[in-house]
Amino acid sequence: MTDTDTGAEVDWAALQAEAVAAMGHAYAPYSHYPVGAAALVDDGRLVTGCNVENAAYGVALCAECGLVSQLHITGGGRLTHFVCVDGRGEILMPCGRCRQLLYENGGPDLLVMTGSGVKRMDEVLPDAFGPDNLA
Ligand code: THU
Repeated sequence: MTDTDTGAEVDWAALQAEAVAAMGHAYAPYSHYPVGAAALVDDGRLVTGCNVENAAYGVALCAECGLVSQLHITGGGRLTHFVCVDGRGEILMPCGRCRQLLYENGGPDLLVMTGSGVKRMDEVLPDAFGPDNLA
């Protein structure tokens, strides 16, 4: 494996710290489960997000939703490295729906920090349905 395969060229601790900072802005009065997410974009940009809940519980926005919105509003591009954290700042795996969001915006090569180290998006969401299916 090369450094690019494992993301060793990236300061994952700094990216996790950005996710923790984003988590500090979470609006989670119903679950009391704040989440923060941070990612690098292929042009070097940083994008972040936090969860935003709603009195209509099912309408809650995961942290990844805000992150993907920020990706597009700040110029688009492809996510390359991604970290999500819970309220203790510990690594959190994205929910199933958010794995689909990340696949769309990062593709199979996106590197995701997990509790057991860096994994590729196509390990985190194997045999994914994605843009290629509609081509
Ligand atoms: N949550 C996220 O923000 N991202 C995930 O990938 C998992 C779950 C949020 C949604 C809800 O506000 C809270 O965590 C509890 O489910």
